[in-house]
Amino acid sequence: MERLPRHAGRSLAIAAVCAVLLSCRGGSSPETKVGYAPAQPVAFSHAAHVGGMGMDCRQCHATVETAARAGIPPTSVCVDCHGGMGMDLPSLAPVRQSADTGKAIRWVRVHDLPEDVFFDHGAHVARGVSCVSCHGRVDQMERIAQVETLSMAWCLDCHRDPAPRLRPRQFVTQLGWDPAQDPTIDEKDRRALGERLMREGDIRPSTDCSTCHP
Ligand code: HEC
Ligand code: HEC
Ligand code: HEC
Ligand code: HEC
Ligand code: HEC
Repeated sequence: MERLPRHAGRSLAIAAVCAVLLSCRGGSSPETKVGYAPAQPVAFSHAAHVGGMGMDCRQCHATVETAARAGIPPTSVCVDCHGGMGMDLPSLAPVRQSADTGKAIRWVRVHDLPEDVFFDHGAHVARGVSCVSCHGRVDQMERIAQVETLSMAWCLDCHRDPAPRLRPRQFVTQLGWDPAQDPTIDEKDRRALGERLMREGDIRPSTDCSTCHP
């Protein structure tokens, strides 16, 4: 009988601390979201479309190099291919419905930073940070899963030492790219290559609070 009140007391104390810090987000804290892989309304496979068919990320995430948001493709992008083949497959029923009604498919969001944190895809991708550094081997995923914590410490780890995670910009969407296997690259060591890119591009990620908390 002693346990119940003590536990309740502790919960109250935690709730009070959370209210003060305004920083507890319960089950949605990013640490707990590693491995989060919600079912989607269509079983769309990146492994089939990217890994299998060789599509480039930018064919669907059109603003990933130029804007803060990568963007989720509209149904018309799917219809470009599927309109002419197999639209009657059961797996494509929500795509067909969306095309008929003009209502967007309700994809379930996977990666989601707190509202008060500023993030910009273009600032990373255009400077040679590959999708793989933050999203893992999407080209092998049947269903998208979050693989990094997206915590502040994780952001800062790279902002303090980006060199080993940089690559020439033309390879940002080739997730398995490796300088050691690429005959067009003379520098095979990732850190040395990254340091060169930092010098040439004057790449210096900021660790000022206001960069991410405007
Ligand atoms: C044929 C179109 C298409 C291509 C090509 C494509 N994607 Fe996607 N992507 C989608 C769709 C549709 C979704 C939303 C459904 C889902 O999560 O699977 C999505 C979702 C994502 C998400 C999760 C978004 C969230 O909610 O957090 C990531 C990350 C992602 N894509 C990365 C990539 C990367 C990296 C590439 C290239 C290696 C790529 N995608 C290529 C269509 C595409
Ligand atoms: C460039 C052409 C192309 C685009 C664009 C494209 N697909 Fe596909 N999709 C294919 C091809 C080809 C297959 C068959 C691949 C296979 O079987 O490995 C396929 C397979 C699928 C399947 C599995 C169908 C089944 O049951 O066998 C689904 C679901 C699917 N696509 C959904 C989508 C969605 C959703 C989009 C838009 C976000 C999309 N596709 C965009 C070409 C495309
Ligand atoms: C430096 C880390 C980083 C890199 C590099 C990165 N992403 Fe993201 N991505 C994120 C974060 C963080 C979010 C969640 C953003 C939010 O909640 O505001 C996200 C969200 C997304 C989403 C969901 C829709 C959106 O725009 O928020 C898609 C799709 C996506 N990324 C695709 C890509 C693709 C494709 C690439 C490579 C061309 C890429 N990302 C590179 C960190 C990254
Ligand atoms: C894998 C490395 C890496 C990770 C992880 C990473 N960043 Fe960055 N970030 C960079 C690099 C490189 C730049 C470009 C710096 C430059 O242009 O000098 C950058 C730039 C930025 C900028 C743009 C600053 C400006 O002046 O425009 C913001 C904002 C930012 N990062 C926020 C974040 C946040 C928030 C996270 C975590 C959710 C994050 N970054 C994770 C490497 C990273
Ligand atoms: C490179 C980006 C980046 C920089 C620089 C940065 N932060 Fe953060 N910060 C984040 C991200 C991402 C989160 C959300 C992480 C989470 O949800 O756990 C966060 C969360 C926080 C939180 C928790 C409340 C909230 O908004 O979720 C506080 C407090 C905070 N940061 C303070 C600071 C201070 C003070 C500095 C400067 C010394 C700083 N941050 C610099 C990315 C950054």
